[in-house]
Amino acid sequence: MRVSPQSRELSASVTLNHRAFIQPLFVEEGLQAPRLLENMHGICADTRTSVLKQVERDMERGIHKFLVFPVPVKREAYPRDFSFTTGLLRELRRVFGSDIWMAADCCLCAYTHNGHCGITDASGLKIDNAASVGLLSAYALELADAGADTIAPSDMMDGRIASIRQRLNENGMDHVSIMSYSSKFSSQWYGPFRDACHSSPAAGLLGDRRSYQLSPANPEDAVLCALRDEEEGADMLMVKPAGWYMDMLWRIKEQVNVPVAAYHVSGEYAALEYMAGLGLLKREAAHLELWTSLKRAGADIIISYAARDAKSWIDHQTY
Ligand code: PBG
Ligand code: ZN
Repeated sequence: MRVSPQSRELSASVTLNHRAFIQPLFVEEGLQAPRLLENMHGICADTRTSVLKQVERDMERGIHKFLVFPVPVKREAYPRDFSFTTGLLRELRRVFGSDIWMAADCCLCAYTHNGHCGITDASGLKIDNAASVGLLSAYALELADAGADTIAPSDMMDGRIASIRQRLNENGMDHVSIMSYSSKFSSQWYGPFRDACHSSPAAGLLGDRRSYQLSPANPEDAVLCALRDEEEGADMLMVKPAGWYMDMLWRIKEQVNVPVAAYHVSGEYAALEYMAGLGLLKREAAHLELWTSLKRAGADIIISYAARDAKSWIDHQTY
């Protein structure tokens, strides 16, 4: 059956569909022109205006689902002003109406002075989980009110899904879904993203995110977090990074009854693109192979920086 493209096609039980893809977008406050992200092959931080053109181009290529990351200017110990993000979502909704689906990343690291995903207690050495969850829930409600279809909490605080769900429901936002970054590992592969969003945690005693993101050495915790988030009301779960954690995708997919997303993160994307740039692999074929593997491992949804190429690549895919 491997001898011809036709018989290989007939025996392909894992196939891709561009409808399952989500394209991340970065929008930076105060930017005058799109800023090409070095290390992120072809990916830009957009301005408030250029993002509209980018979305239009993506829609022409069959991509209608987006994950929006704001890069605001102001950083505070206790952020209160989320108007850059909410203004952006309102504008996208006003221009594109229901032609696009927007997931709003819900985290504090682009807003906090120290780049952490939650707020710290008075000592500055420890995350204050309860205060962080309270603030994230208020932020989530603002995002929903601004037109987000889905809230995507990427902070990894405990109990935030239940709290966000309750806050949304109490305020007439029960139609807004939640895509939880349920199983997000503390990883080296977020480097280019943190560069893009200026969201690296500041050096110091709480210098990394290991007190809230998952340990690669504790797969049971990743399963527990997924089950807990499903229980708390998450409509979609996520494994992140994707390629280095396919075993987690498989384990979690087997145990839950909501769609599971795989996030092929910035560093994974950059590594693949570097290899392609060196002529050591074919860009398009490598992304297709990776996506097929994610699908095989159980991913229902794929978040990729190359999502905008998914339709044309899949349409011309050869086996
Ligand atoms: C922060 C956040 C991160 C990513 C998405 N949201 C990175 C981090 O934890 O520092 C990673 C995305 C990527 O690397 O592509 N809440
Ligand atoms: Zn964060």
